[in-house]
Parts: sequence; structure tokens; C-alpha cells
Amino acid sequence: MKYTANPRTSAGIRKRDKLLSSIFRISSLLTRSISIDRILTDIVEETARAFDFTRVAIFLIDRKKNLLECKYILGFSPVEGERALSRPFNLQKHCCIETSVALSGKTIYIRDHASDRRITPIDLKISRIHGRVSTVAVPLRIKRDVIGLIEADRNRVKMQLTRRDIELFSIFANQASIVIENARLQVQNKKKIRELLFLQKISRKTGSTLNLRRLFQVVSAGAVSITNATACILYLRDEEIGTLRAVSRRGCHGRKPEIPTGGLAVWAALSEAPLLSEDTSTDPRCTATVPGVRSEAAVPLISEKRVLGVLNLFSMERGSFTEDDIKLLTIFANHAASLIRNARLYDQVIAERNLGDSILESSPNGIITVDLSRRITSVNRRAEEIFQWDRRRVVGCRISDLLSGEIPGIVEQELRNRGADSREIRHERKGTTLILGVSATLLREPGGASGALIIFQDLTESKRTEELIRRVDRLTSLGQLSAGIAHEIRNPLASINFNVQMLMKKSPPADGDRSREILRDTLRGVDRIKTLVKGMLDFAKPAAPRFKRAFLSSALSETISLLETELRKKRIRLEMKLADPEPEVVFDPYQIQQVFMNLILNAMEAMPDGGKIMIRSVLEGECLSVRIADTGAGIAAPDLAKIFDPFFTTKPEGTGLGLSIVHKILEQHHARIEIESRVGGGTTFLIRFAVNGREGTCSAIRY
Ligand SMILES: Nc1ncnc2c1ncn2[C@@H]1O[C@H](COP(=O)(O)OP(=O)(O)OP(=O)(O)O)[C@@H](O)[C@H]1O
Ligand SMILES: [Mg+2]
Repeated sequence: MKYTANPRTSAGIRKRDKLLSSIFRISSLLTRSISIDRILTDIVEETARAFDFTRVAIFLIDRKKNLLECKYILGFSPVEGERALSRPFNLQKHCCIETSVALSGKTIYIRDHASDRRITPIDLKISRIHGRVSTVAVPLRIKRDVIGLIEADRNRVKMQLTRRDIELFSIFANQASIVIENARLQVQNKKKIRELLFLQKISRKTGSTLNLRRLFQVVSAGAVSITNATACILYLRDEEIGTLRAVSRRGCHGRKPEIPTGGLAVWAALSEAPLLSEDTSTDPRCTATVPGVRSEAAVPLISEKRVLGVLNLFSMERGSFTEDDIKLLTIFANHAASLIRNARLYDQVIAERNLGDSILESSPNGIITVDLSRRITSVNRRAEEIFQWDRRRVVGCRISDLLSGEIPGIVEQELRNRGADSREIRHERKGTTLILGVSATLLREPGGASGALIIFQDLTESKRTEELIRRVDRLTSLGQLSAGIAHEIRNPLASINFNVQMLMKKSPPADGDRSREILRDTLRGVDRIKTLVKGMLDFAKPAAPRFKRAFLSSALSETISLLETELRKKRIRLEMKLADPEPEVVFDPYQIQQVFMNLILNAMEAMPDGGKIMIRSVLEGECLSVRIADTGAGIAAPDLAKIFDPFFTTKPEGTGLGLSIVHKILEQHHARIEIESRVGGGTTFLIRFAVNGREGTCSAIRY
């Protein structure tokens, strides 16, 4: 059987094939990332090809402006095209085929413009201009929403479209709608991504500073670059006066008030919402803050539901700021608000820390902190002095590596939560013994203990003063006792002395006379008692000093000259270094010679095998201090407290009155005596005389 093709059927098949391939081509645009322009071009071209139209136009709706805009055309003359593209229809005002389709969402097919009753005056006008005789317009929809339409004709030719043709055109338009919407979403997404990246970039810049002043500058610069504004003022709420105050300006010239009394910024702060003024010349909310401004935006900076300030942006062009600008600026302003809040908190923390630091630094007590690994984390100035540390060297070191003795134990006890008691300890520092009151406290943080704080109170001076007072008290009562005893002894002693001498004279000297020997011993004993009684009286009731202004060195030299032969004999070297120039001091030369004599004699007696005595006088502030040091045996710690007591002696022939007399004399001179001694390490006596003779000037001086 011979097969003959049905010409009608084969034309139909060709038409459908063409249409399907066009739909396929349009659909393939869905997966490609190309510009919306390119997509609209492809759609009009495919429409023309699939349906043999000579002219095709795509219109899209702008809902905000309520306009129907011709976005792409094919087959129009340049003049026709220019006209179509530049004159959008107003959906409410213009009544024509295009607005009817856009508003109703229904397809309109007009076979003959000349006879169709639906043709309006606007349609007629357009038909005349474009030479349009029949038109088909199908809506572009996404779900129920009409987004625009495709309109086509065959330029001055009446179209004979079947119902099927129109159905197919609608299917084609539906497919095109999806592609257009997809492309629009892609454009929006790209824009969003671009904006977010831009925000991220600016945020990174702003986030990298905690310096408030710098942050204000970066925030206003960021706001300017987000909106392309000409100028920007950043206002912050001044809590004291309760209004806004300008903290940063950019691109503003001329005089601007620092505290605005009105204007868009104040409105934005009050309404806690962003405000936009497209034309400041007609907007009553705007004041002429920056000369020449035509449009303005103000976005509040809100953190923790409180308005912290306002970003105020200005442009010299009318309508310069868009809703999108405001949205972006709002995100940025919120970010800036939390950064400003953080930077303020940071400033506050730093100020509090500085206050804490200065309190620590000015504390009269030494303060050290350690962490849980027992490493030192901070040392104040007084602690540096007490331990003679340089804090830069000791911070980070273990406390047990720096301090021996009881201190690490106290810290340990506190850190183990056993509550260390305050304790008094002796701390050796380069040959000096310090008496320290030590207490430790646990440092706590929300998560638990973070270390310990150790406080050192230097009690050395107060202990010395206490000791001095005790000593004076003791000496006073002993003095009274001694005076009584000396008085009672003196008279009987005088008669014993007289009687023994009489007996000596009466018994003639004879060899081997035992009784004469006994009398001589008795006289020697009486002499010794006489010396003792004299010493007791000297101590109990020393003669009133006869003060005069002189050089201490002269009293020293006279004493030494009396001792020179003895010193040589005992192979003791004497070194003397005196203050130069030496100030005069008010003293009784005879009594002070007695003081020096006693001290040097003691030093000599402490060095039976020879040694060295060093005498040094130094002017220290208002005091002239004289130091007498020897290289002798030193004094055992338990004896140190007793050496000034009368009759305390470690020498078989000693009276134990030498130092008590020294003490008494110095007391009358308002001079102060201190002692440092170590067994085997020699002894040092230090006497301080007030240069201007004022009482008590030297007692406050530490050494
Ligand atoms: N430089 C010194 N080195 C070692 N011990 C000293 C020194 N000076 C004083 N002492 C001790 O202090 C004690 C009391 O001294 P003090 O001068 O009061 O009496 P004394 O020297 O024992 O007797 P006296 O002074 O009557 O000869 C001494 O016995 C001695 O133990
Ligand atoms: Mg003595």
C-alpha cells in the first residue's frame, strides 16, 4: 500500500514539533545562570519562531509603582520600539488590551481590531501607530500571581489562530513565566549575596577595633560606603543630658550643631525606626543640618532594645536612598550598636582594672597573686620593695622557686581550701631580718577558685618600736632599783674601805703575811664594788647633759685616741669614713664620748684574736647616722633582747652596765640606737642623731 502523507496532519505535526522544541529550549534556560535580559531576548525570539509571529513584546508588572512596563521587544521598528519601551502603562489609569490581561490574568485574542468591541481608544491609538490589525496577549503567571504578559501579532496581517493555537501559546507563556521568575529570583539572590558580602567586609573592619574613637570613624565610613551617601553624622545618646550628641562626622562641611534639637535623626531616635526623606526641601522633619542636602536617611542604632544612637546620612541628590539601602543600613546599624556597646564595656572594664591596679600599687602592704599552678601572676610595688624583686622577672615563676620558708606553705594551705591563718614570719633579706605579717585569701571566679592573693605587712618597724618601748620601761624600773641599791651600798662601802685601809696601815708588812694578803684582796673587791656602784649611779641618775653644737667626729677622734695603744696591742684595725661635709649636731661631748667608748670597747672585747672595726657616719635626710661595726663573735638571738638590760653580761669581768648607760645617754639626746648582729657574722650598732636637734625626727626612719 502506498503511503501518502496527509498535508494537514504533517503541517500540524511540524508545528507541534517546532513548539515543543521552543518550549524545551526555553525550559533549558531554567538551569542556566544567565542575565534576565538574555532570557527575555530568548523568550521573545522563541515565541516568534514557534508561532510565526512577526512582533513580540514582553511586559512585566512593577507592583510598587503600579506600572506595566514593556521590557523586551522583537520585530518593532526603532521608533516603535523606543516608544513601547519608554512608556509604561499605569495599571489603574490606562485601559487597554495589555492592562486588561495584566489585571484579569486572562488571555485576549483580537482577530480584527477594526470590528472588535473590546478595543479601547488607547488600543486604537496604539494600533494606528504600530499598524496592528489583530493581537494575541497571554498572561505570564507564577501560581496565581500575574507577573506580566506576552503580546504578539503578525504586523498588518489578520491572524487566524485556532483555540488550540491559543492554548499552546498559553502553555508556552506559563513555561516562560517560570523561567522569568527564576531569573528574577537569581538576580535578587545575587544582589542579596553581594550585599551580605559587602556587610561582612565592613563588619570585619568594624569588628577589629575596640578603640571607641576609631570605631566611630569606621562606622560612619562604613555607612557612607553602604549607601553611597555624600555625608554622614554618627550621633550617640548622651546619658547625662538625655539627647543625641555627634561623635563622628564624615563629608560634612561648615558648622554643625553637636547636639541636634530636631531633624530626622531625632525623629528616628524617638520613633526607634529608620526614616527616609526623599526630598528634604519639602519634608518638615528635616532641618538643614548639612548645606545642599536633597535627601536624607536616619537609622537608629539599637542594642538590647535600647536606642544607643543614630546614623544620619545625607545626599546632594533627591531620592538618593532606596528602601534596600535602608534595610542594609539597619542590619549594619544593629551590628555597629553591639560593637559600640562592647567597646564601651571594654573601656569600662579597662577603667575598673586601672582603678584596681592603682589601688594595688598604692597599697602600703605587699600584694602578690598566684594562679592555681602556684605561679606568680602579679606583684605590687610594695611587694617588689619587700622582696627586692623586679616584677618583670618574677611574674610567671613558681612562688616556691622564689621564696623559701613558710610563705609557699601558707599559699599551699589556702589553695587547698584549708583557710590559712594570718601569721608572723621572719624573712631574711640581704643580712637584714624583716618581720612580716602574712595572710592569704582564695581568689574566686564564677567557675571556682582561680588562685590566691597573699598580703604582706611589714611589721619590722613597729616591732622595733614596741621593743624599744619595752626596753625603756624595763630600764626605768631597773634604774630606780639600782639607784636605791647603790645608795644603800655606798655608805657601808665607804666605811669598809676606810676600815680596811686603817688595818693595812696598822699591820706592818711582813713576808708571807697571810692577813695582809687578805686585806689587799678585800680592797680590790671594794674597788670593784665602787666601780659597779658608780656605774649604777651613772645609769640610774646620769648627770644632766651639757649640750653644745659640735662635730660628732671630734668626740669620735678623742675616744679613739684613748684606745689607740690597746687597739694595736689587740691587732684590731680601725677604719673610719665620715660624712663629708659633716653637719654639726647638738650633743654633750663628754657623754657621747662615753657612748663611743663603751661601743668600741665592746667591739674590741668581741674580737680577742684581732679583727676590724668600721666606723661610718652618713647624712640620711635630717639624721646623721653613725654605724659602728665589728667582725667579732656576734650575739646570739636570745641575748639580743637583753643586751641593754643593766647587769646583763657574758663577760667574767663585765658589769653589764656599759650598754644600759649608752642607752640612757642616747635617750637624753633623743637619739636612737639599733643593733644588727649574727653569731659569727659580727655586730653593728647604728645611732641616729637629729641634725636640727628636733626630737623624734629620726625615729621614723627605717633601715
Ligand atoms: N660588739 C659586741 N659584740 C659581741 N657582743 C657584744 C657586743 N657588745 C655587747 N655585747 C654583749 O652585750 C653584753 C652587754 O654589754 P655591756 O657593754 O652592757 O656589758 P659588758 O660589756 O658585758 O660589761 P662592761 O661594759 O661593764 O664591761 C656583753 O656582755 C656582750 O655579751
Ligand atoms: Mg661593755
